[in-house]
Amino acid sequence: MKTRKILAVMVLLLATAMCMSACSKKEKAGGKLVVGFSQVGAESSWRTAETESIRSEAEKRGIELKFSDAQQKQENQIKAIRSFIAQGVKAIVLAPVVETGWEPVLMEAKRAKIPVILVDRGVNVSDDTLYSTLIASDFVAEGRMAAEWMVKKLNGKGNIVELQGTPGAAPAIDRKKGFEEIIKKYPDMKVVKSQTGDFTRTKGKEVMQTFLSSAKAENVKIDAVYAHNDDMALGAIQAIEEAGLKPGTDIVIVSIDGVKDAFLAMIDGKLNATVECNPLLGPMAFDAVKAALGGETLPKKTVVKDSVFDQTNAKQTLPDRKY
Ligand code: AHR
Repeated sequence: MKTRKILAVMVLLLATAMCMSACSKKEKAGGKLVVGFSQVGAESSWRTAETESIRSEAEKRGIELKFSDAQQKQENQIKAIRSFIAQGVKAIVLAPVVETGWEPVLMEAKRAKIPVILVDRGVNVSDDTLYSTLIASDFVAEGRMAAEWMVKKLNGKGNIVELQGTPGAAPAIDRKKGFEEIIKKYPDMKVVKSQTGDFTRTKGKEVMQTFLSSAKAENVKIDAVYAHNDDMALGAIQAIEEAGLKPGTDIVIVSIDGVKDAFLAMIDGKLNATVECNPLLGPMAFDAVKAALGGETLPKKTVVKDSVFDQTNAKQTLPDRKY
């Protein structure tokens, strides 16, 4: 009886050991490093380029990437992060849709000893040890660059309508801030209407249609459009054309991102300028993953440098554009 009991315990121990080794093999996917990537969504061409950069860099490095598209919803990102933790990923790359509300889930990742690398957008947390590093553009500087370009073009005078990004998102908050910082120095330049177009072409068009009809009813002339991204500007271009006006001539349009379609619109004379925001963050993101897993302390923010393009250099620059 006693021998049988000992045998049963031994069999149980052996089975547990075999299962543990199989499970850990699964988590490492045949020796591969497993990383979770929680992406905002697919709202713009910029976003698609960022996803592609991260996916292809993971593949190049032999990393297994668990990808989750949040469809612009924070609750989906929180669910994805919890699922990554449960699956035992070694690191998490997060492009957070909005700035606030991340403390609890980031705390869960920290407790599980999973480093979180933020890409593109930042978070607003009281404890910055909740993430390893942020790799992103300086969105306030982008807003300033857009405003400076517009001030020059309009000689410091004109009515501007603003298409804002997703409410609560770092680029929407900071691009507005940087733009206003410059515009307020010019009393004859005014933002007469401002509304969110959620970073999408469809909503950019819808909001621009509303701006055009309400401006007509109020007898207000729209001199310029400032769009927080190219996709909304491209939507606005359609609305302006449908209203019988010439985008780029009757109404000056400046946006942010620097995607290929924006270059094509500049070549066609329909968009006046775009401020580049580099989405090709894959190589830097996985360098950061490697460093964090190697126990290195990373800088809290690495700023990606951006520049301005307009109709004077769009044609010669287009062949070199990667996104
Ligand atoms: O966070 C970067 C912004 O998000 C890009 O400007 C925009 O196109 C995207 O949706």
